[in-house]
Amino acid sequence: MITDTIKKICCIGAGYVGGPTMAVIAQKCPDIEVTVVDINARRIEAWNDDDLNKLPIYEPGLKEVVAEARGRNLFFSTDIEKGIREAEMIFISVNTPTKTYGKGKGMAADLVYVERCARQIAEVAKEDKIIVEKSTLPVRTAQAIKSILDDAGNGVRYQILSNPEFLSEGTAINDLHNADRVLIGGDGSTVEGQAAMDALTKIYERWMPREKILQTNVWSSELSKLIANAFLAQRVSSINAVSALCEKTGANVEEVAKAVGADKRIGDKFLKASPGFGGSCFKKDILNLVYICRSLNLDEVADYWEQVIMINDYQKHRFTDKIISTMYDTVTDKKITFFGWAFKKDTNDTRESAAIYVADKLLEDKANIHVYDPKVSETQIFKDIFDLDTRPHEETKKALKVSKNPYEAADKAHAIAILTEWDEFKTYDWQRIYENMQKPAFLFDGRNIVDARELKDTGFKVYQIGK
Ligand code: UDX
Ligand code: ADP
Repeated sequence: MITDTIKKICCIGAGYVGGPTMAVIAQKCPDIEVTVVDINARRIEAWNDDDLNKLPIYEPGLKEVVAEARGRNLFFSTDIEKGIREAEMIFISVNTPTKTYGKGKGMAADLVYVERCARQIAEVAKEDKIIVEKSTLPVRTAQAIKSILDDAGNGVRYQILSNPEFLSEGTAINDLHNADRVLIGGDGSTVEGQAAMDALTKIYERWMPREKILQTNVWSSELSKLIANAFLAQRVSSINAVSALCEKTGANVEEVAKAVGADKRIGDKFLKASPGFGGSCFKKDILNLVYICRSLNLDEVADYWEQVIMINDYQKHRFTDKIISTMYDTVTDKKITFFGWAFKKDTNDTRESAAIYVADKLLEDKANIHVYDPKVSETQIFKDIFDLDTRPHEETKKALKVSKNPYEAADKAHAIAILTEWDEFKTYDWQRIYENMQKPAFLFDGRNIVDARELKDTGFKVYQIGK
């Protein structure tokens, strides 16, 4: 029996989505026991660490929420079977990377982890359950999950809901506390389906106004997630395309963004020019959308969305090319310091970060790169470059260095490139940095965050995007 009063929740996947989301649900619903399980024992250990600075994810405000709920009604465990068996509602928050092999390679979402979860649930479950898809999934995945579960043939009945995550990393806790909307997709045509949607609605209602909780059919919910990200990414690609035009014409992209964004129909958010968007969602979701459109013979629609990715690749190359051409067309043996490696500020996530691609191209041109990022570990930075598989590891190790101190990272550098918009970069002693650099001292501000006029007065040769 599916009840609408949930007492136990299990979430499979303790990553950037599952971790913060479950922490907030546990915080807001002290009477519900929330267990987050993961196959990665080290990750679970880190979630359970007494030292809250060692949580596996850096996210402002997360420590406080975990401190409040952990051990009370929030638990992290590697016992996936127990988690599944005991919960009435199971969230699937495992990763769905772009496929790197076979059919749909480079485009489609890899559903191997999701399918494994479904099979494990089918094996273990003895009582009816509500399954909630949290991971971003291609449209109609719920159907696949349902058929795996229903075909287990042990009489257990499942309701599958789609409840896509709209939190943005770096502001996840605030996004979860004050979401613009919560989307719940389910089968409203059956009593059980409606009951399942209502059960999840009741959870969010603890802290969200009811009118912000939207119930839709499953396909609308799944598709809305892809489309929301495609629209957001499209805005970034639009302004990045304009930044190239600004540089050729003498217009200033920030002035243009301000003027354009002042129109309420357009709005002022997501109009910051950058070296290109990154993150785990935008590229993956658009590729997914493009793949779906192509599979449905909607080639024109696929081409339209694909262009958003192409402009993003163009912007990453454009930034790199600008560095090389400004430095007299050669960066061979020159030290270029990166300030920032994460795909945006206030996160230690580096997935699809523009920094990775810019670094890779500069390494190809035989530059020496020295990275400083306040939250990303050295291991992660090397892993990101190794994963591209463009050159032997030994070669990378010689040319890439990571430093825990920005002044040390910039010492004797020929150039600094700002890749992430960390606030601390604005407050550095730039005079001191300048003095210790090689001259001319170049500064490539990929995020338009420094005061260019002041730094030019200091002596820097400054380039900013779209100016
Ligand atoms: C995004 C969506 O915002 C979120 O709703 C969804 O659930 C997951 O994907 P996220 O990837 O965490 O969230 O970060 P987001 O803030 O959207 O930024 C994505 C990328 O775009 C970053 O690299 C960011 O630096 C870049 N960006 C964003 C710009 O270059 N300019 C902007 O104006 C805004
Ligand atoms: P996201 O940004 O979507 O949260 P992450 O990669 O940060 O992605 O997190 C996904 C988590 O899911 C990882 O910690 C991974 O170990 C976990 N995971 C993947 N497959 C399974 C599985 N079958 N059972 C349990 N955990 C899984």
